[in-house]
This record gives sequence, structure tokens and C-alpha cells, in this order.
Amino acid sequence: MSHRRRVRLLAYTALLAAVSSCDQAPTAAAPADSLAGENPNGSLLAGGTFGGPLAGLTADQLALFTRGSGEFQRVFTPETGLGPLFNAVGCAACHEEPLPGGGGANDPAQEGEDIEVHATAFHPGAKCDNLEAVGGQVIQKQVTPGLAARGIGPEPVPPEATLPTALRTTPDLFGFGLLDAVPDQEILALADPSDRNGDGISGRVHRLPDGRIGRFGRKAQEATLTEFNTGAFVMEMGITNPGLLIEQTLHGTPLPDGVDLVGAEPELTQGEFDAADGFVHFLAPPPRLPLDLAGRTGAVIFVGIGCAACHVPALVTGPSPVGALSLKIFLPYTDLLLHDMGPALADICLGDALPSEFRTEPLMGLRFATTLLHDSRAATIAEAIRLHGGEASRTRDRFLRLSTGERFALLKFLRSL
Ligand code: HEC
Ligand code: HEC
Repeated sequence: MSHRRRVRLLAYTALLAAVSSCDQAPTAAAPADSLAGENPNGSLLAGGTFGGPLAGLTADQLALFTRGSGEFQRVFTPETGLGPLFNAVGCAACHEEPLPGGGGANDPAQEGEDIEVHATAFHPGAKCDNLEAVGGQVIQKQVTPGLAARGIGPEPVPPEATLPTALRTTPDLFGFGLLDAVPDQEILALADPSDRNGDGISGRVHRLPDGRIGRFGRKAQEATLTEFNTGAFVMEMGITNPGLLIEQTLHGTPLPDGVDLVGAEPELTQGEFDAADGFVHFLAPPPRLPLDLAGRTGAVIFVGIGCAACHVPALVTGPSPVGALSLKIFLPYTDLLLHDMGPALADICLGDALPSEFRTEPLMGLRFATTLLHDSRAATIAEAIRLHGGEASRTRDRFLRLSTGERFALLKFLRSL
């Protein structure tokens, strides 16, 4: 049996285990936190409190989580380092639904802060230009009053960017420390760049310039949670930290003197950063809702029509110094690989990812999503599936051919995640 098959088999076994463990959960609509504590320290299946910490953390790790929750929810002002260019006043201003660490309200009608604009330059045949020299791929939509007083408005999309630019909704981060703890070999084992098994699906890893494997962000553009968080403080709030001391610029030109009220970098101490980073690492995966017969049938259909070829139900973390993250089975429904999703979904390139390539979106926490797909273009789960193209076309067509009852069962299952 190939390594890839073995990983898949393990994933299916874990899926079955998860489905049957739901049988033991209370039947009616159980309050989410009634599942808390179901996974005591030492359990193979990762668990914890919804919106709270993973089960099995030590007292020190719990204290870090609690401090970090405060940092994550902190509201920054120009006096405490906000901006001068920024998108929102704190992590939880965007990652807020239904609890801190969750996704955005992502309301396209309001064009709120939770939906960002990203831009890069794509010239077919050439390497993607992430526009690092002219302010990076994230466009900051807000400026502090001090910068506005100098007549400097929000960052325009630089003229070097190519169309289309990208809209990005804010995803949730529940259980993401577990994704961080998945060994590279497991992701590599799922990849099939030349589609040797002929299923029309050819996921590939996003290799970063330094050879590491990317896994975070819609284009799998960052290798680790810590690096993503380091960048998020600067790109979203203009908060420099020991990992990144440089403020965002307007088209690569440093901002005028005096507008940054906190002149000395970093604006966040290592201790404060570590706490926020710990909070994101230790957030528990969302407990799943119990499944009835229809839901269990839906789980089987999910695998049967090929959704699980990309949305791999179960992954296993590697050995970790953090016991709660070490050798745990969890159910993220992603392979962390890039897939060509077809021209209709395509927007920007990023690093080695082409405009039409996206990382399989984890479906863990799907029931809390306020809108679907990278730019909020789908309002319902069925619509999100209908908009799958490229490598997912065959699976999408099988979904379209399901009977009403089968479709009901599949959606019932998906709404339990
Ligand atoms: C202005 C809204 C906004 C703020 C503020 C914000 N984020 Fe995000 N976050 C996003 C968006 C949008 C994405 C998706 C980015 C992408 O796909 O490339 C994201 C993605 C992430 C991811 C990767 C998730 C994934 O799917 O791989 C992490 C981790 C993260 N943010 C952490 C943070 C932390 C920590 C903070 C505070 C320092 C923060 N974010 C502040 C909007 C925000
Ligand atoms: C070829 C790989 C692939 C297959 C097969 C596939 N998906 Fe996806 N799926 C993705 C990718 C990549 C995304 C992210 C696309 C985007 O954001 O534009 C995604 C996004 C989604 C989303 C939206 C999640 C969110 O939070 O925005 C749902 C729901 C979903 N898939 C369900 C399914 C179901 C159900 C099936 C089977 C009928 C399926 N997918 C088959 C790769 C795949």
C-alpha cells in the first residue's frame, strides 16, 4: 500500500471513530460546551472547550492562553502603536464570530473591515511578484488621524498590481495549533502533483522560497502559525513586534516623521507576542454536533463522491513538546495542499501559488462561517460546492447528480462540522 493510501486509510478510520463517538454525545441540540472535557488528557482525539483551550494543557500553558486571549482581544490606539496604516484595531476586531478566535462577520454588503483587499502582480510565465517592494500584498484600508491630518488617505492598490485584485474574508482559527503540528511528511504523502492515481485531483504542496512547506493563509503562503501571527500584527494593525520591526509603508516610501506616536520599535514586547501566539496555538477545535442517521449517511456520501480527496477528514499531529498537541488525531477536513479550482474562482497569485490555486479550506468549524469561499461569494454551503471548478469539477458534478435525500444528508453532515 502506498504511503498516501495508508494516510487516507488512517483518515477514514479516524472519521468512523469520530462519527461513532458522536453517538455517545447527547442527542438533541447540545450546547457546544457540553462536549467540553469529553477528551481528557491523554485521549488520542484532540478536544477542548469551544472558544477555549485545548484539553490537556499544563497550568503554565493555560495561564499563557488566558493572557493571550487578552492580547488577542486588545484594542490598539495610535498611542499604543496602532497604524499609521492599518485594517482594524485588534485581532478580535476581525476574528470575532461567534467568539474571539473565530471568523469575521464578513458582511459583503457593509464592506466591513473583516473583508480585506490583497493585490500582487501576475505575469504569465514569470514568478509571482508579491509586491514586497511597494508595501506587500495586504492593502491597508485605514489610516490614523495623524496620518490623515497630513493629507495621506488609505493605501491605494499600487499601480504595479495586476487585475483582478483579491477579496479575502476572515477565517476562524479554532484548532489551528493542531494544523501547525502536522508533520510535513504527512502533507507530502497526500500530495499527488502529477495525478498518478488518475482521479483528476492533483494537490501539490506550496514550496516557499526557502524550501519549507506553506500551510497557512488561503494560498498556503506561510509555513507556521507563529510567522503568520507575526505578520498579522504588522499588516493588520501596524503593531511592530520582535519578529517584525518594520512598519507598513505607502508604496515603499517610509511614512513622514512624527505620525507614528510610538517611535521606538517594537510596539509589542516578546512576552505579549508570545501570549497572543500561544492563544492561537492552544485554541481548541470546535466540538462537532451529534449526528443522526441522515448526518451519518451524509458523512459516507462525503467520502463516496470524492470531497474527502481534498477535504481529508482526519490528520494526526507529530510529536510535540506540548502534550495537548502531541500525536493527536483531529478532524480538520483539509489536506493543506494547493488545488487548481478553475478560472472562475481565480484571483491573485501569491508566492508559488497561481491565481486559480487555493489551499483546501478546512471545514472544521464550517457551521460558524458567516459567508463561504475566499471572497464571500457563496452564501450557502450548496452554492459553495456548486462554485467548485478545476480539479474539483468531477466531484462537484457528482454532488449535482445526488438525489434530494442524498443532498439533504450531505448538508446535514456538513452543518455538524
Ligand atoms: C482586518 C481583519 C483582520 C485582523 C485585524 C486580523 N486578521 Fe487574521 N486573517 C484575516 C484574513 C482576511 C485572513 C485570510 C488571509 C489569507 O487568506 O491570506 C486571516 C488569516 C489569519 C490566519 C491564517 C488562517 C488560515 O486559514 O490559514 C491566522 C493564523 C490569523 N489570521 C491570525 C491573526 C492574528 C493573530 C491577528 C492579530 C495579530 C489577526 N489575524 C488579525 C483578517 C484579519
Ligand atoms: C480538488 C479539491 C477539492 C474537492 C474535491 C472539494 N473541495 Fe471543497 N474546497 C476546496 C478548496 C481549495 C476550497 C477553497 C476555495 C475558495 O475559497 O475559493 C474549498 C472550499 C469549500 C467550502 C467552503 C468553505 C469555506 O469556509 O469557505 C465548502 C463548504 C466545501 N469546499 C465543501 C466541499 C464538498 C462538500 C465537497 C464535495 C462535494 C468538496 N468541497 C470538494 C477544495 C476541494
